[in-house]
Amino acid sequence: MKKIFISLSLVACIYADGFSMPKATNPLYQKECASCHMAFQPSLLNQNSWTKMMSNLPNHFGVDASLEKVDEQAIKKYLIDNSKNRLKNPSNEIAITKMPWFTHEHNRFKEKANKNPKIKTLSNCMACHIHADKNDYDEDNVRIPK
Ligand code: HEC
Ligand code: HEC
Repeated sequence: MKKIFISLSLVACIYADGFSMPKATNPLYQKECASCHMAFQPSLLNQNSWTKMMSNLPNHFGVDASLEKVDEQAIKKYLIDNSKNRLKNPSNEIAITKMPWFTHEHNRFKEKANKNPKIKTLSNCMACHIHADKNDYDEDNVRIPK
């Protein structure tokens, strides 16, 4: 019975979400990378972007996010192992919000988001995707603050 349950929920997970996002549950990643913003799912970027980002943490979007070397290496491995290499990154950008799939889906909200103090920036996924931290980007769980 247990086996059946597990395989059924696996199937449900795979089909529920076109982005098939594994949870960002790595404790070290949660501890070190989710204090200023949510723990962005590793599958939101490809390997090249994570590699580039993780090799320049002292200059991380205008802030110093540097870590001990061992932690940096462990987090980098976790991110790369769970990245999505089919995501294109033609410009060598590292921001999720600059990726073609993202801008395609979100640019129409950008101006409004930047003016709204409840959102501020499109990087603030949880302002609209209320369960983004639970890997849920389903359209049923999008609320754009007024
Ligand atoms: C000291 C605060 C701080 C820490 C710690 C931090 N970040 Fe950031 N991060 C930022 C800021 C600020 C931005 C830019 C957000 C924006 O553009 O509005 C950012 C942006 C990002 C983005 C791009 C989001 C976008 O806008 O597309 C990713 C991905 C990211 N961080 C990953 C990480 C990872 C991985 C770690 C841990 C190694 C980390 N961050 C730790 C402050 C931090
Ligand atoms: C201003 C509100 C807002 C913000 C902020 C926002 N989104 Fe979205 N996002 C939307 C809307 C609206 C859609 C389209 C919903 C739909 O029609 O499926 C969407 C669609 C998506 C989709 C596609 C879902 C699918 O199945 O096609 C993903 C993935 C996504 N957003 C991730 C993110 C991530 C990651 C962030 C933060 C880096 C973010 N979003 C920030 C409003 C927002």
